[in-house]
Amino acid sequence: MRIALFLVFGITAPAPAPAQGPPAPAPLGAWTPIPELPVMGRPVDTAAVAARRRALAARIGRGVVLVPSAHERQLERDYVQDNDFRQNNTFFYLTELETQDAWLLIVAPGGDDRETVLFLPPRNPAQERWTGLRLGPDSVAARASGIPRVLSTDSLDRVLRSARARAAGPLYLPLDVSTRDEPRITDLTFDGGDVRSLRPIVDSLRLVKDADEVSRLRKAIDITTLGHIAAMRAARPGMWEYEIEAALEAVFRRNGADRVGYPSIVGSGPNSTTLHYDVNRRRTRDGDLVLVDAGAEWGQYTADVTRTFPVNGRFTPRQKAIYDLVLATELAAYDSTRPGVTIAQLNRIARDYMGAHSGSLCGDQTCDVYFIHGLSHWLGMDVHDVGDYSTPFRPGMVLTIEPGIYLPQESLGVRIEDDVLVTPGGAEWLSGKAPRTTQEIERLMRGGR
Ligand code: GLY
Ligand code: MN
Ligand code: MN
Repeated sequence: MRIALFLVFGITAPAPAPAQGPPAPAPLGAWTPIPELPVMGRPVDTAAVAARRRALAARIGRGVVLVPSAHERQLERDYVQDNDFRQNNTFFYLTELETQDAWLLIVAPGGDDRETVLFLPPRNPAQERWTGLRLGPDSVAARASGIPRVLSTDSLDRVLRSARARAAGPLYLPLDVSTRDEPRITDLTFDGGDVRSLRPIVDSLRLVKDADEVSRLRKAIDITTLGHIAAMRAARPGMWEYEIEAALEAVFRRNGADRVGYPSIVGSGPNSTTLHYDVNRRRTRDGDLVLVDAGAEWGQYTADVTRTFPVNGRFTPRQKAIYDLVLATELAAYDSTRPGVTIAQLNRIARDYMGAHSGSLCGDQTCDVYFIHGLSHWLGMDVHDVGDYSTPFRPGMVLTIEPGIYLPQESLGVRIEDDVLVTPGGAEWLSGKAPRTTQEIERLMRGGR
């Protein structure tokens, strides 16, 4: 990519600085784009996205698909001070481009290179002084995207009209929150044609991850497990929850995470029993458990991992007993994870296991009464990823397994959450590198002090 930019913009290596004195300032107006500016995102797996577009066209049979990319969100109304941008998942799934204000058109049958058009806004050199290089309708974009037909957004309406006439089928649009404020989408839904929602089709394709998606997830999850290890190592009684959050997220960023997949949950003592506590402002106390539920996002895909540990590095016998029951429940669910099983079945297996092995740990009740959320959800570009939750597992699906027991009356909450890939023979832990048994956690925390 860098080499390609050098060729396209005709940039040459800078001349060596003169031996004496400071280098002369560049004359105004002769600004040279710097090829290393990372504004165009990571390399696209062009074969993977082309296969996804073909699969989509095959599902549609006959029709036209039109997908807008996201826009930069303006934190201040009249002036963009911050590059606050995350691509729409549907657009990313079909292009892996992080570019903004773009549109993708696919015509079925076909959906191949000849039937796909990428529309990009014309480049604006004056604006690029502020934003850095942007993809424009030229050969750079064609090479970066693997889509040979790249046109200016100025021609979108004309090309769309002729594609619809040619395809003689419905128009599929991603009708969801991401396009609610998109005037062109609104107009198209009212133009009297056969307009349908694209989301159910793309969402079902997203259920089974391809090799590129799995490798993105592995990267996000590997970064995440490093963050959890750092959080355990850093923890000391008396630390503020946000200090533990900082130790975790520093490692995310240092390892290239783009952002967090969701606000990090660092709940100590009583806060460990609030499922989505993310205020992270309490000061920990000796004897507390700390529940950390956090996931790095890398390349648009997010991890979702929870570890619970004693802030002082030693579980009390009571904490360990509850913890071991949660862990055994997680292992029971994992052992049953294989193609053909559903999330509902796994949930039942986990609850039955926890109930049957509660003994007197939770008083008159069995502990599954205190397991107050679902066991699993799909994982991908969304932390609670899209797709039909009744679908039997197939190889390539990725889900969480996350049992918990929450006892507010004891300020004691334990959740253990791992990310799991369904394989032909069963399942694979993706987040297994984060210590999980009480012994492993205590050993790590002893070593970190
Ligand atoms: N981190 C949110 C969840 O576990 O579902
Ligand atoms: Mn989860
Ligand atoms: Mn979680």
